[in-house]
Amino acid sequence: MGAMKTELSFANLAGTETELLAVTAADAQTAKGLDAKPAPVLLTSDEGVKAAAAPMLESGEFKAGANETVLLHAPAGLKAKRLLIVGLGKQAKVTVQSVRGAAGTAVRFTKPRGIRELVFALPELDSLAGGASARAAGEGAVIGDFDADTYRSDRKDLSVQSFVLAAAGPDKGAVQAGFAEGVIVGESQNFTRSLVNEPGNKLTPTILASRAAEMAAQVGLDWEVHSTEKLHELKMGAFWSVSQGSEEPPALIVLKYAPEGVTDGPVLGLVGKGITFDTGGISIKPADKMELMKYDMAGGAAMLGAMRAIALLKPKVRVICIVCAAENMPDGKAYKPGDVVTAMSGKTIDVINTDAEGRLVLADGLTYAKSLGATHLIDAATLTGAIGVALGTWNAGAFSNDDDTFAKFQAGLAVSGEKFWRMPLGEEYADQIKSDIGDIKNTGGRAGGAITAAEFLHTFAEDTPWIHLDIASLAWIEDSRPYIAKGPSGVAVRSILEWVRSY
Ligand code: BES
Ligand code: MN
Ligand code: ZN
Repeated sequence: MGAMKTELSFANLAGTETELLAVTAADAQTAKGLDAKPAPVLLTSDEGVKAAAAPMLESGEFKAGANETVLLHAPAGLKAKRLLIVGLGKQAKVTVQSVRGAAGTAVRFTKPRGIRELVFALPELDSLAGGASARAAGEGAVIGDFDADTYRSDRKDLSVQSFVLAAAGPDKGAVQAGFAEGVIVGESQNFTRSLVNEPGNKLTPTILASRAAEMAAQVGLDWEVHSTEKLHELKMGAFWSVSQGSEEPPALIVLKYAPEGVTDGPVLGLVGKGITFDTGGISIKPADKMELMKYDMAGGAAMLGAMRAIALLKPKVRVICIVCAAENMPDGKAYKPGDVVTAMSGKTIDVINTDAEGRLVLADGLTYAKSLGATHLIDAATLTGAIGVALGTWNAGAFSNDDDTFAKFQAGLAVSGEKFWRMPLGEEYADQIKSDIGDIKNTGGRAGGAITAAEFLHTFAEDTPWIHLDIASLAWIEDSRPYIAKGPSGVAVRSILEWVRSY
């Protein structure tokens, strides 16, 4: 990872010497019904490139569907050895999201063919503002270059060594700034993905903490890492109960971003679930697919990736990040169903199921963020299987106790291109987790499982404006897509970042 060099060029395309020149095309057809035929048009003003691509476009073989590709060798009249045409789909529907996908597709097309460099021409289309689409291209290229194959001995590092974004257009400054930003965001998302990909034996809570500290030192964030003693000192009975069954000590990871001169206004609290392996504990999970529970720290990793981007992009708002890292194991010392634990807030929790551990660590994480001065909270967690039952694998779940705060998050989705669907909260759901034994119980039955989990967190966020992201069904993708490899997706990094930047 990180091998790819990125560069910006405003040179003429036809005259550009490269192994591979990638240009985009959209389907401009507007007719409907039986007469409708795809009408692919190249999104470049370069006459040489247009001429080289003309026979292919006229053949009808290439329809310019989203992420559709066709490769031409020795394109007539061009200095490039190869011309790759990448589809963006219907022209009327092209957005910066299409550009991110196309740049990722171009890189992922290039990688397995052993081609180590490419030039990607930014689509020339009025509806695409220069800066935003350059950013998206930067993100797509960097994200596309990532594969989760670091543990394969036969691995050939197929990373693209050089990605050049070629832009025309007048707004050079905006393109340059946008592209630089996109590269930072993409690298931050890949940082998250590389953490999520690590197996439980290679990434214990302690190791996750040292990876976070190393990153923080690199980008200039303040950081602290605590363990068992501090959990006891802070009376984090909920967080501790989850970690107590493991030989591996927990890690309370705290990162702080404080831009110079910002002394008032909001303090944003980012809280992530960092379960480095979730066996379920005494309420042990079935063996089938348990290996995937190494990705149960994806919420925490998303917060770390977002913090990396925040440190480099320097928004004018203070941010605190807390990752509650632990391993959920069955053991003689493990917490048990029926145990009553006292959270940092003082609330007593009746543990019904030790597999509902994420909400326990987050309960104390949210309370701690507030105690450190957070005025607004966002958490991310692979919290429930139920969110996937509700929304499938194309939308992650989002919950909030405050419409204005959620509106800011929602607005950022147009930039991040990620899909989060707002789910309800409500007293009736909160009633499902009332306990006869303590203040609250940690499961509320099968019905509305993602919502009762969110209501559990709500009890600890209380009235502080708060957003909860349940990313259980999106943090790990089973099938490769043209623009992103299968495995750890790095979902939520970009959306959390945009939310932070909205303040
Ligand atoms: N880490 C799991 C949720 C999960 C499931 C993440 C599948 C990714 C993929 C979480 O800790 C969990 O076990 N949740 C339980 C809650 C239940 C016991 C109330 C679940 O979803 O089954
Ligand atoms: Mn669990
Ligand atoms: Zn879990």
